[in-house]
Amino acid sequence: MISKINQLLQEVEALTAGNADELEALRIKYLSKKGAVNELMTDFRNVPADQKKEVGMRLNELKTRAQERIAALKEQFESMDSDCGDIDLTRSAYPVPMGTRHPLSIVKNEIISIFGRLGFSIAEGPEIEDDWHVFSALNFAEDHPARDMQDTFFIESHPDIILRTHTSSVQTRTMESTQPPIRVICPGRVYRNEAISYRAHCFFHQVEGLYIDKQVSFTDLKQVLLLFAREMFGADTKIRLRPSYFPFTEPSAEMDISCHICGGKGCPFCKHTGWVEILGCGMVDPNVLRNCHIDPDVYSGYAFGMGVERIANLKYQVKDLRLFSENDVRFLREFEHAY
Ligand code: PHE
Repeated sequence: MISKINQLLQEVEALTAGNADELEALRIKYLSKKGAVNELMTDFRNVPADQKKEVGMRLNELKTRAQERIAALKEQFESMDSDCGDIDLTRSAYPVPMGTRHPLSIVKNEIISIFGRLGFSIAEGPEIEDDWHVFSALNFAEDHPARDMQDTFFIESHPDIILRTHTSSVQTRTMESTQPPIRVICPGRVYRNEAISYRAHCFFHQVEGLYIDKQVSFTDLKQVLLLFAREMFGADTKIRLRPSYFPFTEPSAEMDISCHICGGKGCPFCKHTGWVEILGCGMVDPNVLRNCHIDPDVYSGYAFGMGVERIANLKYQVKDLRLFSENDVRFLREFEHAY
């Protein structure tokens, strides 16, 4: 019996298990009711009385060692579990889905980059503005319809505080704080009190431009805009300027580009005219310069402004303006390869 106990003791000291199932099998083999230790306990009855003391001690030692060894192995598995669980370090990683740039960001960045190459830097200002920077400094008459509740969002308790309706307010701020030469573009979000539909929204995005220096003329404006149109829509793009009116420019114009869908031949997109409108522009009114402490006898300048959604529509033929703000990923993913 002693030799059997010694053999089992040796076995127990050397026990190893590769996983929890193997460990359970060992527990059953040595420590369960019908396990090796219990079997010896049952045989203990037959040990001659003079050997009982020694055999009993050895047997208890075996039982304790077996319990200790199996508990130690169990602990080893449990600590492994909490460290890294069932992680299979050889498995390949899950692919991380990449986002895409928003089409309006793509177009805005392209506009910024074109004018950046022409020496324009970026100016930014607040979306919540006062009447002066959005309207009064820009020569809007006291009763101009744009001041009406129909077009502008007013802050109820502060009739002087509004959401800017164009980023020309940033031009006002730039002129107030900087003496010419000034050459900036002003990208940003603007707000107008419009019913939301497929072709209008209560907010949209603009990039406006301003250049003020000595002897700036309408020719400079036209040349810069021609270059922009060619860079944005292709080298064979033509432009035309139609007389228009803005309170802050004189003379003022609206610019069309030759329809790049039909090449100017006429199609439903350009309503068979061969031209599509893309921006407003003009020479900065002397009153505006004076309001911003710039001497109109020394300096002159031009300004222009375009809607980013409008340019994006022309480039990508997005029929419904609302898509730009709904963040439907099926729409956004279509621009995956656009930049
Ligand atoms: N601010 C005008 C608008 O909101 C655009 C514009 C800018 C027109 C500069 C002329 C000169 O539509």
